[in-house]
Amino acid sequence: MPSGSTPPTIVAPSLLAADFARLGDEVASVQAAGADWLHLDVMDGHFVPNISFGPLVLAALRPRCTLPFDVHLMIAPVDPYLAAFAQAGADHISVHPESGPHLHRTLQAIHALGCKPGVVLNPATPPEAIAWVLGLVDIIMVMTVNPGFGGQAFLDDQLPKIAVLRQMITASGRDIRLQVDGGVTPLTAPRIRAAGADTLVAGTAVFGAADRAAAVAALREAA
Ligand code: DX5
Ligand code: ZN
Repeated sequence: MPSGSTPPTIVAPSLLAADFARLGDEVASVQAAGADWLHLDVMDGHFVPNISFGPLVLAALRPRCTLPFDVHLMIAPVDPYLAAFAQAGADHISVHPESGPHLHRTLQAIHALGCKPGVVLNPATPPEAIAWVLGLVDIIMVMTVNPGFGGQAFLDDQLPKIAVLRQMITASGRDIRLQVDGGVTPLTAPRIRAAGADTLVAGTAVFGAADRAAAVAALREAA
């Protein structure tokens, strides 16, 4: 990849917007629809004001899907649960800097478990939060809503942060995915891509669509 360019767009449907009574069929459906990764939002009702699912659900879904499991942990403390998510089949584990006192150590632990580490930045968290862990991350994710719920409106004020992070990644020379989560639709995707992101998480825009293959394709094409 030439310096300064961005890799092909990755589309990662978020299971949070799926029919929870039919989760096995839902993951198979988005895999068949052409998704690249499956995004799994883990919420504890403490770090964020909602509760979703944990490692038992990941382990149950793992045989139903060959896509990378892109696990977004919105739990605190996070360190005691990393191994459980790795054993349940996580491929990527992304954490918020606010979910533990030692982000550097948490990222080392994720790597030692054989998973790709990611850092997630809340809307109020500055890009500098990852400046001294750039050498340890494979994914940086920008929240373009406040975490906890699907179906919220995209926060345009995060676009300059995406651009700053793209510059930081380019300067690092490392192969780091720049991911965006929250309010991603075919309408917001072009602005997200123009700002420098390469990976789109989309819950409502994929699981809420009657034709999921068309929805995945629309996101990829819009970006
Ligand atoms: C929010 C989650 C998101 C959410 C996105 O806390 O991290 O992944 O599922 O949902 P949409 O795409 O509906 O905004
Ligand atoms: Zn998420």
